[in-house]
Amino acid sequence: MHYRQKHLLAIEGLHPPEIGQLLDLAENYVLLNRSGKTQRDLLRGRTLINLFFEDSTRTRTSFELAGKRLGADVLNMSVSTSSVNKGETLLDTAATLNAMHCDLLVVRHGQSGAPNLLAQKVDAAVINAGDGTHEHPTQALLDALTIRRRKGRLEGLTVAICGDVAHSRVARSNIHLLNTMGSRVRVIGPPTLIPAEVAELGVEVFHDMAAGLAEADIVMMLRLQRERMTRGLVPSAREYFRFFGLDAEKFALARPDALVMHPGPMNRGVEIDSAVADDPERSLIREQVEMGVAVRMAVLDTLARSGRNA
Ligand code: NCD
Repeated sequence: MHYRQKHLLAIEGLHPPEIGQLLDLAENYVLLNRSGKTQRDLLRGRTLINLFFEDSTRTRTSFELAGKRLGADVLNMSVSTSSVNKGETLLDTAATLNAMHCDLLVVRHGQSGAPNLLAQKVDAAVINAGDGTHEHPTQALLDALTIRRRKGRLEGLTVAICGDVAHSRVARSNIHLLNTMGSRVRVIGPPTLIPAEVAELGVEVFHDMAAGLAEADIVMMLRLQRERMTRGLVPSAREYFRFFGLDAEKFALARPDALVMHPGPMNRGVEIDSAVADDPERSLIREQVEMGVAVRMAVLDTLARSGRNA
């Protein structure tokens, strides 16, 4: 057992054996899921609460499915119907949840750092399901699992992360994970969407798709996150697509065996063309969703065990 932490709040700070252990365990869950079997004894009697302060389709449902396949009692707290709308603070919510003796708390929040704050206040193991522009650790794990299964390794691969890096917790978690596991990471996007501090994370920065995509093994596209933009950072969707949207022509600049990924939800025709997104040979987008369930099962399993040993 390498992973001995109580929570999963970020990828930053994890060591290769911890990441490797989660990915190896997730491989087993891919096989289990494909066989149609479940393992309902593992989390029997445990309670998992999905606490989502921001919209989500894939992440929330895959945590729900993961919890149920391992036998946990799963509750989805949707914020629109909770007291949060009546002005209850995050810490009051935490105290309420704590009184309910929940074992695993999955949190998505618009503020960076909210899951860390909750982790200090509740007894449950806290899993960050995306906080502001900070991190989204299970997304990076599922992306890594998807890449590793297709390419056989992470080490030595060139991964180009393209688009709205500034607002992307997916990009930040992926940069930390891929750097830790020995990939070469590039980010590509307009200067307005690539913050200066990203270069300090040990990535190569490109503002031109042609230069950045050359020799890439993996092309990871990001959604243009207009809801997080406080001012106009891109001229128009059409112009953005022309320079930074991935179509067949730009994709041809990467390695011939390059594969494309996107965390979803996609803005088709803005950051990615449908012909590329739906290419059965070279798009991993559907596989990413499948890997998401397996990775979340591995994370719940691991945290439940480290909690028991504590
Ligand atoms: C991402 C997120 O919420 O950070 N989506 C996801 O979890 N699959 C990316 C996004 O919203 O663009």
